Amino acid sequence: MSTKSIASVTSANKAAWEASAYLHKSGDGWARLIEAASQPGFSVLDDTVTELLRKYHVEGRCAVQVGCNNARELISLASLGGVPMLGIDQSPSFLAQGRELADAAGLELNVLEANIYDLPKSVGRFDLVLITIGVLSWMPDLPEFFRAISGLMDDGAVLVIYETHPFLEIFDPHRENPHEPGFSYFEGASSTYSGDYL
Ligand SMILES: C[S@@+](CC[C@H](N)C(=O)[O-])C[C@H]1O[C@@H](n2cnc3c(N)ncnc32)[C@H](O)[C@@H]1O
Repeated sequence: MSTKSIASVTSANKAAWEASAYLHKSGDGWARLIEAASQPGFSVLDDTVTELLRKYHVEGRCAVQVGCNNARELISLASLGGVPMLGIDQSPSFLAQGRELADAAGLELNVLEANIYDLPKSVGRFDLVLITIGVLSWMPDLPEFFRAISGLMDDGAVLVIYETHPFLEIFDPHRENPHEPGFSYFEGASSTYSGDYL
């Protein structure tokens, strides 16, 4: 894919995330998240990714998360003994939320506003690179994406990817019959976001 086409897709995506950022601070979900982040052992990581991270010995590893959004997951690595070092995202509004969360958690966390396809050379290398749900599906060129990811990895680094297919969004686990589709795959607006983080 040409650099120009990648830039056009990623800038449209950035605009969409920026437009939705205020929703993530509305309702009491945000206040509860801030409160939770201030507690020892804070984690929003589910059992599956927690087990995966333990398996790959997250303890003591300096971590970067790509597409970190508000950094709630990156911050959660501390509960497993990891060292949350850097969150990369191209949405400044979500990174601002990440700084608030890191403050609440009492962590010195750096965030970098950058398009993963156009990273500055000085970002550095890390022992753990984390990519979680909702990132890969936005990437217009996966080989280029993973070239950028490899540039973030130190010798012996671990890359943890925890992703699902967006098709799963058509199901609502809280419905009476959770195995039947609850939403259209083609809806333009999110039908599931409730403002709850925890
Ligand atoms: C679905 S969110 C990740 C949410 C995260 N898994 C969580 O639960 O907190 C995807 C993030 O990827 C970021 N993103 C998308 N394309 C990007 C790009 N090209 N470079 C950097 N960040 C990007 C978006 O701004 C968004 O914050």
